[in-house]
Amino acid sequence: MTAAVTALPAYLPDPGYELVGLPQLRAAIAESYRRRGLPTDGDQILVTSGAQHGLALVLRTLLDAGDRVLVDSPTYPNALLAIAQAGGRTLPVALPADGWDFDALVAGVRQGTPKLAYLVPDFHNPTGALLDAAGRARLVETLRATRTLAIVDETLVDLRLDGPTLPPPVAALDDTAITLGSMSKSCWGGLRIGWVRAQPAMISRLAAARPGTDLGTPVLEQLAATYLLDRLDQVTAPHRAGLRERRDVLTRLLTAHLPDWRWTAPHGGLVLWVHLPLSSTALAMAAQHGGLLLTPGTKFGSAVNLDSWLRLPFTQPIDTLREAVDRLSGASRGLPEQASPTAAPLTI
Ligand SMILES: Cc1ncc(COP(=O)(O)O)c(C=O)c1O
Repeated sequence: MTAAVTALPAYLPDPGYELVGLPQLRAAIAESYRRRGLPTDGDQILVTSGAQHGLALVLRTLLDAGDRVLVDSPTYPNALLAIAQAGGRTLPVALPADGWDFDALVAGVRQGTPKLAYLVPDFHNPTGALLDAAGRARLVETLRATRTLAIVDETLVDLRLDGPTLPPPVAALDDTAITLGSMSKSCWGGLRIGWVRAQPAMISRLAAARPGTDLGTPVLEQLAATYLLDRLDQVTAPHRAGLRERRDVLTRLLTAHLPDWRWTAPHGGLVLWVHLPLSSTALAMAAQHGGLLLTPGTKFGSAVNLDSWLRLPFTQPIDTLREAVDRLSGASRGLPEQASPTAAPLTI
C-alpha cells in the first residue's frame, strides 16, 4: 500500500474511472497467464472488484431468465446466489469427494442443455480437488459438444501446497472459456481485486454492461495489486508454507480425536471437506453453543446427503485449530449417529 500511495499522485489529474482496469495491471495479469503457458494480452483482461463481482457481471451479461447453469454439487455457495440473482436456474451435477464424475457430467449437459457451466477445477471449494490434465481435456470436449460456455473460477489457483504440478489452465484448451481470477486468496480479500480473462470481444461486451452497476475498481487498490503481482511468488511462499503446516496439524488432530471422520487431504486451497457419521447441521448447532462457528455441508448445494459433510478451513493459527478440534469433539459427543454413504453426493 505504501508503494501504491507513492504512485498515486500521477493518477490524480485523471478522472479515475477505470472501466476495464489500469493498463499496467491488465498487462501484469496477462503476463501471469503467459507464465502459466497461456498466451494472453492486456485487452483480454477486465479488472473487477473481486472474482465474485466478475462472476456476477458475466452472469448478468450472458444469462436470460430461466437459462440453466451447470454447477458442481457441492460448490461455492455465493456462486449459487449469483446465479439465482441473475435469473438463472442451476443444474447440479454430483461431484464426488475424490474428483469429477464425467459420466454424470456428460449426462447432465446432454439432458439439461445448460447455457453456461460454472467450474472450479483448481482446489475446488469446498472439496479441494484438482482436475488433472486429462480431465480438463474431457471437460472441454464435453462442453464443446453441447456448446456450453465454461466459466472457470481460478480464485484458489495460487494456493498449491504440494502434490502434482498444476495442469494447464482450462482456457489453454478452450479459447472461449471465461476465466475468473482473484488476489483474495493469494494476497488479501480486503484488496477486492479480481478479474475476468476472455476473448477481447467478450471483454468489450462485459465492459459495455458494467456501468449498470459500477464504473470501475478503485485505483489505489489496482496500484497495490500491480505491485503485488510483480512479486507474487515471494508474497505467497510464506503464506503457502503456513497453510501447509496448518493443514497437516488439522488432519493430525482430527485423526487423533475424531477417528470416524473421513477426508482426502487436498494438495491446495484452504479447506478440508470431511465426511461425518452424523448430521453436520446438528453438529453446527451444537458447536455454536460452544462458541465454534461451522459451515455445514448443506450450505454448498441442495443434494440430500450433503448434510453428512462439513467444510473445515485450516486457515486459523495452530492454537485455534487445537481448541476448535477440542470443541468439535465435545459437540459431536451425544449427537445421534447417522449412516450415510461416503460415495458421490446424491443430487436432487
Ligand atoms: C471459489 C471461489 N470463488 C470466488 C470467491 C470470491 O473471491 P473474491 O474475494 O475475489 O470475490 C471465493 C472466496 O472464497 C471462492 O472460494
